[in-house]
Amino acid sequence: MAWGVAHETGLLPVEPVRPRPPQHLEGRRSVVTPHPAKFTPVILNRLTGIIDELLVDSEPDRPIVILDPFAGVGGIHALASDRVRTIGIELETEWASARAGTLVGDATRLPVATASVDAVVTSPCYGSRMADHHEARDTSRRITYRHTLGRPLTAGSAGAMQWGPAYRDLHTRAWTEARRVLRPGGLLIVNISNHVRKHQVQTVVEWHLADLLDLGFCLDHVAKVSTPRMRFGANRQARVTAEHVIVMRAPE
Ligand SMILES: C[S@@+](CC[C@H](N)C(=O)[O-])C[C@H]1O[C@@H](n2cnc3c(N)ncnc32)[C@H](O)[C@@H]1O
Repeated sequence: MAWGVAHETGLLPVEPVRPRPPQHLEGRRSVVTPHPAKFTPVILNRLTGIIDELLVDSEPDRPIVILDPFAGVGGIHALASDRVRTIGIELETEWASARAGTLVGDATRLPVATASVDAVVTSPCYGSRMADHHEARDTSRRITYRHTLGRPLTAGSAGAMQWGPAYRDLHTRAWTEARRVLRPGGLLIVNISNHVRKHQVQTVVEWHLADLLDLGFCLDHVAKVSTPRMRFGANRQARVTAEHVIVMRAPE
């Protein structure tokens, strides 16, 4: 769906900010910006299966609308088809500009009409060491949002937040926005993971689940998905071996 059409139909009630490549890359034919935490194929497969089930119960002649408020380089658009429209929102211009259909925006202030979305499908940041954002000057290998982007992250980015109160506050606001834009009973699918810090598993998955229940979402199911994880760095022996996919329903 063209943005003009989405805007006129009220799906996007405010004039969207169209992402543009950063100035030094403008005019190049294609801009490939690396991203450290894209959806993996195994997660995308799982998401596709859930959306296929949703389509079984949907009116065949009304395409469903899926929104990813933490869209990165737009893996969500792999779910698009003649029956599925996808919209991405991403804070960082370089990553938003990787795919048409992703707008620059903030997950805590979505430029999307209330009760206009059938499913929010997303993978937020995990609050792990990938959120390290100091400017490392040595040559050791680092896979972080800050280093991959090559500049400081935009204010309000969860990509610079370690697991803690600021991380939790931002995601409660993002899930409150997700509830606002979802149709009553709409699906919320969250791909998230725990991580190990100082030899302790940080229970990020359990927190998101509890927060969503507090906000009135109803649990459909939680799937544990085994995924390949980074096998280098100081914590390589202490990585958790699975990610989770939380599937909830918005309040009716
Ligand atoms: C785990 S990544 C998502 C990757 C995505 N699934 C993909 O396939 O590319 C999380 C993304 O959320 C973005 N982000 C962090 N805080 C944000 C915010 N407040 N609003 C919108 N996007 C945000 C980060 O820049 C990052 O690209």
